[in-house]
Amino acid sequence: MAKAAIMGYGTVGSGVYEILKKNAAKIGAAADEDIELKYILDIREFDNHPEKYLFTKDVNDIIKDDEVSVVAEVMGGLHPAYEFTKELLSAGKSVVTSNKELVATYGSELLEIAEKHNVNYMFEASVGGGIPIIRPLNRCLAANNIIRIAGILNGTTNYILYQMITNDKSFDEALKDAQANGYAERNPAADIEGHDACRKIAILSSLAWGKEVDYTNIGTEGIVNITLEDVRYAASVGSVIKLIGYAEQLENGKIYAHVAPMLIKRDCLLSDIDDVYNGIMVTGDSVGDVMFYGAGAGKLPTASAVVADMIDSVIHKARRSLIGWAKTDEDICAGVDGKKFRYFMRTSDTAENAGKVFGDIELVKSLAEGETAFITGELTASEAADKAKELSGMISSIRIFA
Ligand code: HSE
Repeated sequence: MAKAAIMGYGTVGSGVYEILKKNAAKIGAAADEDIELKYILDIREFDNHPEKYLFTKDVNDIIKDDEVSVVAEVMGGLHPAYEFTKELLSAGKSVVTSNKELVATYGSELLEIAEKHNVNYMFEASVGGGIPIIRPLNRCLAANNIIRIAGILNGTTNYILYQMITNDKSFDEALKDAQANGYAERNPAADIEGHDACRKIAILSSLAWGKEVDYTNIGTEGIVNITLEDVRYAASVGSVIKLIGYAEQLENGKIYAHVAPMLIKRDCLLSDIDDVYNGIMVTGDSVGDVMFYGAGAGKLPTASAVVADMIDSVIHKARRSLIGWAKTDEDICAGVDGKKFRYFMRTSDTAENAGKVFGDIELVKSLAEGETAFITGELTASEAADKAKELSGMISSIRIFA
């Protein structure tokens, strides 16, 4: 019998509790021993909970209990999750987490501590919620050199863009709708400014290429400047706008990564990832493109990935499960200008001036009077921004996924 604890009894924590209860027999069979919950850490009172005796407000109850071998950290945020995780790993307990902020920020250090103490630090739920992506990337695609990862990694922004695309809602209306449906936080900045997706693509890149990709080196744009007009233009060229976490290993070995809204052609599978769903396309040099799709957030989907890691930790009690990456002082990031893209642009300047500045452009039928829309040749982010400054009245500039 393995003894476990949950840290944080919010949406995901209560989902972990529910799955451990309802699927106890299946989980016990998969882990080759039953997993019994001994503690739930939360600072709030849960007097009406059927197992209220499990609750504690003191993390030391868990740290000092030699019986506990695996802990699900689902409290979110950096602190005190970081300090608690370090202490738990140092005390010889495996920790599994859905906390992408913590994994992207302190993952290398926590993985090192886990290795030192011969325990596991696992984070399947930190990217793509319930979608199996961490383990498949690490294990099932292990024979490949990963060429590229491109994913819709944030459900909130995908819902907002989907409402704009299908129901003709403005960004503000779609955001209010997302908040009313519980898909967006009252303070939605982490989602709509792209920070959440940035942490997730940093984790996937670190895992795919085996070295820490520092998320602060990833150029990040959110969807706050995307308008209904942009969405309509995209439709007019057979595309949709999606927030894409993008990472590619370049020929010089460096990693180029960004988070930004991109125009996706309707014949690309990523264009069909709708509503709050996530979809991640991984390209390997042997397997080609593989696609992972499913619920990227939510109580039971995320908890399903957390509990799977708990099972794996119990199975790998004696021998560590080698999922992770190495910290490196090497400069492995290619920088914001590491890769060129074509851009869709709108300006109140003339087509003639756009042609003079950008050279060979493909004009797009204008949907508004006094406006020029066009597609550029391949440019770096700085080239696109510098040239755009030469035009008067830039309205939009959006990369095109190819
Ligand atoms: N806010 C995140 C999303 C939750 O919308 O995808 C899951 O990380």
